[in-house]
Amino acid sequence: MSPTVVNLIYLIAGILFILGIKGLTKPSTAVRGNQLSSLGMLIAIVVTLLNAEVVNFTYIIAGGVFGAAVGAFMALRIQMTSMPQMVALLNGFGGGASLTIALAEYFSVLNVDANSFAELLVPVALSSDAFGAGGEGQVTLISIGLTILIGAVTLVGSLVAFAKLQGLSKKNIGLPGGPAGNALLLLGAVIALGCLVISPNQAVTVITLVALALLLGLFLVLPIGGADMPVVIALLNSYSGLAAALAGFILGNTVLIIAGSLVGTSGLILTKIMCVAMNRSLGNVLFGKMAAAGEKIDADEIYAGKVTSAQPDEVAMMLEVAKRVVIVPGYGMAMAQAQHAVRELADSMESRGIEVEYGIHPVAGRMPGHMNVLLAEAEVPYDKLVEMDRINPTFEDTDVVIVIGANDVTNPMAREAEGSPIYGMPILNVDKARNVVVIKRSLSPGFAGLPNPLFAMDHTLMVYGDGKKAVVEMTTALNQI
Ligand code: TAP
Repeated sequence: MSPTVVNLIYLIAGILFILGIKGLTKPSTAVRGNQLSSLGMLIAIVVTLLNAEVVNFTYIIAGGVFGAAVGAFMALRIQMTSMPQMVALLNGFGGGASLTIALAEYFSVLNVDANSFAELLVPVALSSDAFGAGGEGQVTLISIGLTILIGAVTLVGSLVAFAKLQGLSKKNIGLPGGPAGNALLLLGAVIALGCLVISPNQAVTVITLVALALLLGLFLVLPIGGADMPVVIALLNSYSGLAAALAGFILGNTVLIIAGSLVGTSGLILTKIMCVAMNRSLGNVLFGKMAAAGEKIDADEIYAGKVTSAQPDEVAMMLEVAKRVVIVPGYGMAMAQAQHAVRELADSMESRGIEVEYGIHPVAGRMPGHMNVLLAEAEVPYDKLVEMDRINPTFEDTDVVIVIGANDVTNPMAREAEGSPIYGMPILNVDKARNVVVIKRSLSPGFAGLPNPLFAMDHTLMVYGDGKKAVVEMTTALNQI
């Protein structure tokens, strides 16, 4: 195939990726978006293989079949609540793939016996243009070095993130000196990268670079608390894209550069959105601790004698006379797997002519789009899921807000308590509604570890219990009225 034809087809694949991402911005077009991106990827893979004049397809087909089987198995088996772990693993594999491409390209030029460690330590004779003539050689070497650095950090960092989310590693251990220790590792890696560009004939520089980058990936993510992992995963996603784009430069493959850049930038945008929605800087997520700022807030002072509890059947009576109800889901709905029960309660209310909408906070739950995915699984119509900015002005005209397993995203302290760790975080103003019902098991705090004055307000009723059980009881009681 002529290079022009190949690049033209790559361009079509790139356009399909972009259309795919655009489709993913709305639930109603998300499936189509996914299909378009997959088609783009299929075209890119087929053209790359045909263009590469592969002599023997055996390993490629075997790898493809094995990978597809593992991928399909994981995708079918994965629970929605375990999605962040799955994304972490996929990012890690992406980084690992770029790392191995860079190493393969380097060692194929060096032509040393990778099985003999002693041979790797001795400089080999290389012609000055072994990696390409003049500037081209330097670009290739810098790309190899950066791909190794970012690929290795992504690989190990993502595996640590996976282990934390899976509950396999609970300790938040860092290097002595914290960020300074990591800065030293990074400095060492950059020096090794510089040595690689200056003397590419010494494999020992590459081995040092790999070792330092693996350690950096480990110690960058190990100290971060498990609950901050979703932001870290979005960042690692961005790194995996960057590593892929750099691998595209090594291989001279345009579509890899396009796809990698798209992943790199979208991961970065997602990281920024999450940080803004949590009112935290990226530096605070990576190097700080949640709830470190501000004076200690005494929960007893906020709750003592002021909290009113209710039973599900009492709430049903309240719902019966309501005209408009907004359901605000949070992490607890995911934990209780209550999305189907919530949908049934909404159906029951709608059959009585009550207007029902869902108020969705951008960081409710533990991953971006967590609530949308769960409610879509329960077949809640997309147009009923209303984003924070659009639902907030409607609370004043809402008879009842049912908060199910949400806490921080409804905490008025974010609006009012200057000095509180969540001050400034945009929230759902549920306290502006006429009545608020909060379903959770206790007065325990949410992710931010703070008491929530909403629970002690005069117009708030607490329904204690597991989210699913409480909602099912409410629906049963409502259906009996
Ligand atoms: P949280 O503030 O974490 O509160 C969840 C509440 O659910 C808890 O207070 C808990 O109270 C309750 N709960 C747990 N299991 C339950 C069950 N089985 N039934 C009923 N309730 C249950 O949740 P949120 O309001 O969704 O806020 C999300 C938080 O996570 C924010 O602080 C956000 O910044 C942070 N965060 C989000 C993301 C993304 S991307 N979504 C990423 C990182 C961090 P009980 O124990 O009393 O039941």
